[in-house]
Amino acid sequence: MKILVTGGAGYIGSHTCVKLLNEGYDIVVIDNLVNSNEKAIDRIKELSGKDFPFYAFDVCDGDRLEEVFKEHSIDCVIHFAGLKAVGESVSKPLEYYSNNLISTITLCRVMARNQVKRFIFSSSATVYKPGSPMPVNETADLGCTNPYGWTKYMCEQILRDVVHANPDWSAVLLRYFNPIGAHESGMIGEDPAGIPNNLVPYITQTALGRLEKLHVYGDDYDTHDGTGVRDYIHVQDLAKGHVDAVNYSLKHTGCEEINLGTGIGYSVLDIVKAFERVNQVPVPYVIDPRRPGDVATVYADAGKAKNLLGWQAEKNLDDMCRDSWRWQKQNPNGYHS
Ligand code: NAD
Ligand code: UD1
Repeated sequence: MKILVTGGAGYIGSHTCVKLLNEGYDIVVIDNLVNSNEKAIDRIKELSGKDFPFYAFDVCDGDRLEEVFKEHSIDCVIHFAGLKAVGESVSKPLEYYSNNLISTITLCRVMARNQVKRFIFSSSATVYKPGSPMPVNETADLGCTNPYGWTKYMCEQILRDVVHANPDWSAVLLRYFNPIGAHESGMIGEDPAGIPNNLVPYITQTALGRLEKLHVYGDDYDTHDGTGVRDYIHVQDLAKGHVDAVNYSLKHTGCEEINLGTGIGYSVLDIVKAFERVNQVPVPYVIDPRRPGDVATVYADAGKAKNLLGWQAEKNLDDMCRDSWRWQKQNPNGYHS
């Protein structure tokens, strides 16, 4: 069984590659390294003890993609490749729309020409309309607030339409909540460029002393301690969810949207306190005003993943804090360390 993984050098892709290799799948990886480092590919090989072909090019390049499909007999595609910074998408909408939409459309075209009919897509909880009742399930109304979110919304629609037109296709649209954590070895993890936008990389870099203090965005939300509540999920659980989605796609046709979250909401201060307790390291913080665009609470109804994929998150908040910190300590400058 051979899986094409686009974006396999990235944060979630690298963890999924290790998991796939450990489960006995063959993989082929394409990544143009626009937001990653080739060292991640070396570490996937080291961790799994297995070799695989890696191609450094843009998935929007249909000719190069066609060559890869001709060279390898691909059974299923997992499409992680995409730009993902919400703020940047507001200032560079065309880059986001072209990269994220054209890569998805090009992949579908080349797959169709080569009789490959199974597609696992990296979607996001960001497709849910703000203000949806929590826990949010897959039937909730959709609607986004930024170009990044709209690219996920549009790619989902494209894939639903492709499957509708080709009923022998299978597409699984995985809506991730907030992925954190790292591989237990500390060899692969999240390596954001510049100052992190997301909470946990900001915490780990503050604990390390690279950043002075964490800015907690708002303590006046209607939550148990006033700070924002999210559904944090260990990246290793997420990786397992992709293996389960591949297995599901081998046995089913049609298109399914599936939440990948734990179903548990933690506040910003819950995370800070757990991180300090588990790792015995201080995280200085100040309370700042709310970040524009943020909502009080987001967490998943993870029932559909359990019913359809037999998947549920196994790791807890302590695991997430411990593994995020191990990766950061062992790689203070990420893959540039
Ligand atoms: P990441 O940036 O670490 O990984 C994405 C990878 O895709 C990078 O290695 C990048 O170099 C590559 N890439 C981007 N555009 C490409 C292109 N046109 N051709 C080839 N390679 C390309 O991000 P991640 O956190 O691993 O996220 C993976 C996917 O999951 C993305 O599609 C992202 O939007 C989605 N997602 C991520 C999160 C999250 O919080 N990390 C949440 C929801 C959804
Ligand atoms: C953001 C994106 C979402 C994306 C997800 C994972 C927005 C509106 N949403 O979600 O599309 O899928 O990242 O990449 O940007 N916080 C602080 N201080 C910080 C950073 C964050 O207090 O320095 C708080 C936030 O206010 C929020 C929580 O921590 O309450 C989580 O924030 P973050 O990690 O950025 O994720 P989301 O905003 O949930």
